[in-house]
Amino acid sequence: MASRVPLLLIFANLQGALCWGELGHATIAYVAQNFVSTSTAAWAQDLLDDTSTSYLASIASWADSYRETTAGAFSAPFHYIDAEDDPPSDCNVDYDRDCTDAGCSISAIANYTTRVSDTSLGTEQQAEALKFLVHFLGDITQPLHDEAYEVGGNDIDVTYQGYSDNLHSDWDTYMPESYAGDYSLTNAKAWAKTLTTAINSGSYKSLAASWIKGADITDPITSAMTWAVDANALVCTVVMPDGAAALSDADDLYPTYYDSVIPTIELQLAKAGYRLANWLDAIYTDTVAKRGLEGTEGEGSAVVKREAAAPQSWALPASKPLTRAQMARAESGYKCNHSKRGGHSHSH
Ligand SMILES: *[C@@H]1O[C@H](CO)[C@@H](O)[C@H](O)[C@H]1NC(C)=O
Ligand SMILES: *[C@@H]1O[C@H](CO)[C@@H](O)[C@H](O)[C@H]1NC(C)=O
Repeated sequence: MASRVPLLLIFANLQGALCWGELGHATIAYVAQNFVSTSTAAWAQDLLDDTSTSYLASIASWADSYRETTAGAFSAPFHYIDAEDDPPSDCNVDYDRDCTDAGCSISAIANYTTRVSDTSLGTEQQAEALKFLVHFLGDITQPLHDEAYEVGGNDIDVTYQGYSDNLHSDWDTYMPESYAGDYSLTNAKAWAKTLTTAINSGSYKSLAASWIKGADITDPITSAMTWAVDANALVCTVVMPDGAAALSDADDLYPTYYDSVIPTIELQLAKAGYRLANWLDAIYTDTVAKRGLEGTEGEGSAVVKREAAAPQSWALPASKPLTRAQMARAESGYKCNHSKRGGHSHSH
């Protein structure tokens, strides 16, 4: 039995609903900052009204606090897609099956990809869309954000480094922190630097092109689905290759399980950052920059008017009755169950 230590619980509650915890999201954002073009960076800094060197990293977890507010509650389902597959024997994602009419990460990425460059919405709404994109292109690479089983692993009770917690929060927060230290922009930046080097000249160099293959801002549903399928497959191969019971029954997921998954956690953060940079560059180049040229039309004769990318069309899947897994998710309040982390276990 886990005995709860009140003080630790208070701290755990403070970290309530962070998905890929703040460390992971900030790391992804710094990787992206390292790869975006200078024009994209200037556009993003202008939208966010922040010319600091952490302009994406400091807003990377905004979506997690926003979902906790009354105004932002509608966005809670946007942090994941609950694939109703059957890990570890069968992993797969299906947009029509797994996205509800409340939305999911896939529809959200489509929505905010359209909105971020829509000047008719005004700067504030465009900035909000950018903050959502920075977050959701991160969440989608966390395998348990692409899985319905046990509410994305929130209901899989495990022990990690002596704490009773759940598998989802260990993936989001505690395993990344074991690797790179507690959340701080400094730790995130240092981790991002290592990942950036691996992409530029190290072990990820030969892989990076495949991470952005087929990414197309005019077809955001297909693009985001590619990313969801990629991460969901890892649920079967890396997250729970021997099933969930093997993890719940383990004395402690540290160090054996941690050692087996941390390379994947690093890989997924690098992927997310690199994809985010590529996505923002594409949005900038194919919509913002082209509209900018239209704007200067008439002022200078040398400007050749180019067509901005066609407006992206996408739709939520047809409305249908909620499945059992979707009801479980709704009952959970769409939260990441980090508050479940109890005190040090005394179960020996
Ligand atoms: C698109 O984003 C806006 C602004 O956040 C939101 O009000 C709207 O519900 C979103 N639409 C869908 C279908 O997710
Ligand atoms: C979260 O934690 C609470 C308390 O331990 C538990 O009752 C609940 O089933 C958990 N899961 C979700 C998804 O809320």
